[in-house]
Amino acid sequence: MKRIAVMTSGGDAPGMNAAIRAVVRYGINKGLEVYGIMRGYAGLLEDDIRLLNFADVGGIMEKGGTILRTARCEEFKVEKGRKEAYKILKSHEIEGLVIIGGDGSLNGGALIAAETDFKVVGIPGSIDNDISETDTCIGVDTCLNTVVENIQKLKDTASSHERAFIVETMGRDCGYIALISGLTTGAEAIVIPEVKVDYQALADKLLAGRKRGKINSIVVVAEGAASAYTVARHLENKTGFETRVTILGHIQRGGSPTVQDRLLASRMGSFAVQTLLDGQSNVMIGIQGTQMMAVDLNKALQKKKELDLSLYELANTLS
Ligand code: ADP
Ligand code: F6P
Repeated sequence: MKRIAVMTSGGDAPGMNAAIRAVVRYGINKGLEVYGIMRGYAGLLEDDIRLLNFADVGGIMEKGGTILRTARCEEFKVEKGRKEAYKILKSHEIEGLVIIGGDGSLNGGALIAAETDFKVVGIPGSIDNDISETDTCIGVDTCLNTVVENIQKLKDTASSHERAFIVETMGRDCGYIALISGLTTGAEAIVIPEVKVDYQALADKLLAGRKRGKINSIVVVAEGAASAYTVARHLENKTGFETRVTILGHIQRGGSPTVQDRLLASRMGSFAVQTLLDGQSNVMIGIQGTQMMAVDLNKALQKKKELDLSLYELANTLS
């Protein structure tokens, strides 16, 4: 193998730049030419591909976002689009591709690996932490730190005004961000898609808190479970508390990556290149415990990630 390419695709996640840097520098150290594909599958279909050298990825580890930019691309979802992408990769004599992205992007990669002789290795980069066969994904830790920092700020104003705050987090269909941020900020209640919500029980819990002398109420709601406005309406009716809604939105995807994400991305990026050099394809790099592994990409994508509901119980017990 002489030439490989790297791309970022789908929703961006802090730490993607550190992963790009690792792919490029590890690859060059192993004697490879490493190409960067701009704007995910969209840039690939536009043949927006450039050779990256050691210096091109200097000073990017600490930056949020992705220097390769990212996009969503409908054309790649049909076989005709993927065939065209394959032809473009071949025209550059690129033999292996590292795709950094969420489950959608990795699904696209699995299809190109199944339909052609092209070698594909995926790296899970998504704040949602909704991908199986890996404990975590690039961007999750930074996102959680951002969410926690912001909930902490909301707690200050909630206490001053003795208000209830309903905070909506991202995560698509997965409650991980809400669960972990709720647990680690001591939120009184967490609403996630994995657990059916009981508004009366929730209101009773908030009322009991006030009786104990609490002067604020924080409820963290995962976007995949309910709209924060709906939760607020129910709770305001049942408790009579003055309630405000904060939707954290895309700030959850930005910012300089944490040490954890820089480390994870550096390890995953290097491991991905080594995996290609070892001749593997259609695999995803995962971390299980402290161990990097190349796991079957289809298995990772087909299995639904299990949320550890004992953490939900723990959050309820401690708040
Ligand atoms: P993420 O990778 O963050 O989950 P998306 O689900 O939007 O983001 O996927 C990003 C891109 O990956 C899509 O715009 C599309 O180009 C490609 N993709 C997603 N799902 C598929 C699929 N089932 N088949 C082929 N390509 C896909
Ligand atoms: O997958 C990452 C994510 O941020 C989800 O949490 C969220 O539902 C979605 O992407 C938002 O997508 P967009 O950037 O298209 O608004």
